[in-house]
Amino acid sequence: MLERYGHGGDLRTAAALYGRPAEAFVDFSSNMNPWGPPEGARAAMLRAWERIDAYPDPAARTLRGALAEKHGVPIEAIWVGNGAAEAIDLALRALRPTIAAVAAPGFAEYETAVEHAGGTTRPITLRPDDDFRLRAEDVRAAAEEGADAIVLGHPNNPTGQPLAQDVVEAALEAFRGVVIDEAFLDFSPEEESLTLVRRAAERPGLFVTRSLTKFYAIPGLRLGYVVAHPDGIARIRALAVPWSANGIALEVGAAVLADRDFAERTQRWLPPERERLSARLTALGLRVFPSAANFLLARLPEGAKAGELQTALGREGVLVRSGSTFRALEKDAYIRLAVKKRDANERLLEVMAAYLATAREASAR
Ligand SMILES: Cc1ncc(COP(=O)(O)O)c(C=O)c1O
Repeated sequence: MLERYGHGGDLRTAAALYGRPAEAFVDFSSNMNPWGPPEGARAAMLRAWERIDAYPDPAARTLRGALAEKHGVPIEAIWVGNGAAEAIDLALRALRPTIAAVAAPGFAEYETAVEHAGGTTRPITLRPDDDFRLRAEDVRAAAEEGADAIVLGHPNNPTGQPLAQDVVEAALEAFRGVVIDEAFLDFSPEEESLTLVRRAAERPGLFVTRSLTKFYAIPGLRLGYVVAHPDGIARIRALAVPWSANGIALEVGAAVLADRDFAERTQRWLPPERERLSARLTALGLRVFPSAANFLLARLPEGAKAGELQTALGREGVLVRSGSTFRALEKDAYIRLAVKKRDANERLLEVMAAYLATAREASAR
């Protein structure tokens, strides 16, 4: 199984499974911006290298200052660390929920983080007939049944659905602790109106986590942050390991954030390319769900199996994420795909069409 360690983008496992070098795959199983990293990242990395014999700024002031300006929040409302994965983990340790509601399917690390913080999770099942939308009444019901916190993706992974306004309000009303993971929100041209960072800076108990690794395509560097009320940030700081964001990541982070052009180009590129890929997959017989992110969740046509498809494509050097490792998705029926550049998307469609033709023939026999 490609998701041996629970995530997409595991090129080393792919190499072992499909007998090709790790760099020979076109990877649709993890969701990086195909236009990144931005131009300035390499020079920033080399600048940081010149100071590699000194500790990084323990308060990450330059990057936090740039993020504070971007979001219009005070610098005291921001904590920077080693990827959104660490940000989520620390937000939950700061909140210490007893029972945290999570959407299913959702990003598996939310459950792990709740458990690390000493709590248990209560899944809220999302349904395909509803396009996997989370409903405000289900959020309220989770609180009535004893959950004291909620952790939600905005947009959610793997479904790509952003949170509706009434769901946000229901969550803020019903729970003492709310963690909203906006790891993919910067891909949306509506980022400004959808983000909860400004509310998080003012409202104790609301923690927003963000990532720089997806949008700027620097997952190898690891860089993410939390926006919360300064009291919540102080709790996170007390729990965190010092210098968790390294000097190279801090310098690159500030450089890529300054590249407004890169951000605008990405936000302009994504919606039409996503629509095109979605339409082409639909024409191949898949049911593609609406997405505000740079990935698509799709249900395979009758007779096709996600595990089989993953293997068939893997052997052709194309990696896709099977839905089978996500809780509450019917086994072997779903895949998740990144939206990549046009030629890569064409290659995906080509190998997918070939597999689906074989699967159709096999099921007709
Ligand atoms: C929904 C979601 N949140 C957070 C993360 C973690 O991102 P980072 O690389 O910043 O740790 C991921 C990574 O796959 C993700 O899918």
